[in-house]
Amino acid sequence: VSDNIAFKITRKTDGTPAAERESLVANPGFGRAFTDHMAVVTYTEGRGWHSAEILPRQPLMLDPAASVLHYAQEIFEGMKAYRTPNGAVQLFRPEANARRFQKSAERMAMAQLPEDLFLEAVTQLVTIDRDWVPAPEVGTLYIRPFMIATEAALGVKPASEFKFIVIACAAGEYFSKDAGPVSVWVETDTVRASRGGTGTAKCGGNYAASLTAQMEGKEHGCQQVLFLDAEERRWLEEMGGMNVMMVFEDGTLLTPPLAGGTILHGITRDSLLTLARDAGMPVKEERYALDQLFADAKSGKLREVFACGTAAVVSPIGAFKSKTDSCTINNNTVGDVTAKLRQTLCDIQFGRTADPHDWIRTV
Ligand code: COI
Repeated sequence: VSDNIAFKITRKTDGTPAAERESLVANPGFGRAFTDHMAVVTYTEGRGWHSAEILPRQPLMLDPAASVLHYAQEIFEGMKAYRTPNGAVQLFRPEANARRFQKSAERMAMAQLPEDLFLEAVTQLVTIDRDWVPAPEVGTLYIRPFMIATEAALGVKPASEFKFIVIACAAGEYFSKDAGPVSVWVETDTVRASRGGTGTAKCGGNYAASLTAQMEGKEHGCQQVLFLDAEERRWLEEMGGMNVMMVFEDGTLLTPPLAGGTILHGITRDSLLTLARDAGMPVKEERYALDQLFADAKSGKLREVFACGTAAVVSPIGAFKSKTDSCTINNNTVGDVTAKLRQTLCDIQFGRTADPHDWIRTV
C-alpha cells in the first residue's frame, strides 16, 4: 500500500450477536443494516494520508466549523461485495470506483487518495465484516466509501484536512420487486446538473439537488425521477441516483452520452454497454429527447427502458409521467432484454459464470 500505510485494527469487542446479525442479513432492506466496523484514514496537508484504522463503527467527532458541514466538500462511491456459490466473497471492478473517486476529488478540490489505499481500506473492511455479506439469493454487501473535509474554517477555500471513511451494510433490492417495474417522474422544473457543473462528480450535493423532484415524483406515485438537460430541457440525462437505458424494436440499446460532462460515469452503465456489445446488440451513446420518448413509447418503437446503477443493478421502468404527458413501457412488465442483461451482469458479479473482462477481485 502507498507510503507503507498499515491499518491499525481494533475489533469490536461487543459485536452484533450472531442471531441478530443473521436475522438482519437475511432481511436487510437497503441502506440500514450496517456492519460492525468502519475504515478511517486521515489526510493532513504537509503530512499526507496517515492514521489508517479499522475500528468499531461509531459516530464521528467533527468540529462544527468543518468545511463539509458548510460548503459540502464531500464525495462518495457505491460498490458491492458478492457471495459466490462456493461461499467466497468478491468485488466487482473496484479499481473503477477508486479511479472515479480520484476524479470526483479533483473536481471538488479535495486530496487525492491513492488507488491502492482506497482498495486496501475496502478490502480490510469487507474482510473483517465478511459475515455481513448476505447469501446471493438475498443480496449483497453495499459498500460506501466517502471523503469529507474536516478542517475547521469558515473561509471558502479548499480544506487542508480530510477523512476518508468506508462503511458497509447488508443490502437487498433498492426497489421492492413486489411493486413491479418502477414508475418514473420526469422533472421539468429543476435540473440535476449543467455544463461545467458537478454532474460527473459523485458528490453529495448532486443527490441533495435531486430530492425536491423526488418528493414531487412521490406525490405522483413515482419511485424515481428523470432529469433533463439544463439548457434546452429536452434531452434525457440521468435519474436521481442511476443511469437510464432504452431498448428499441430493432434491438438497439441507447443511453445518453457522457460527453456533455453532466452525467455520472456509471460503472454499471459501462459494464452493461460492454455486455450488450458482447451479445452483438447495436449500442448507441446518443442524445434522446423526451418528446421522442413519449412518441416512441406510444408507437411501440420503444420496447424497454431500465435504470442501472450499483444500488439499482438493472431495474425495469414500467411508466413515465410528466406534468403534461404519460406513457407505459412494455405494458408495465419486465422486458426480455432487460432481464437478460441483468442476468448476464449478475452471473458475473456473483461468480456464477466466467469473468471474460477481468472484472472480479476475490477478497
Ligand atoms: C449507487 O448506486 O451505488 C449509488 O451511489 C446511488 C445511490 C442512489 C444509492
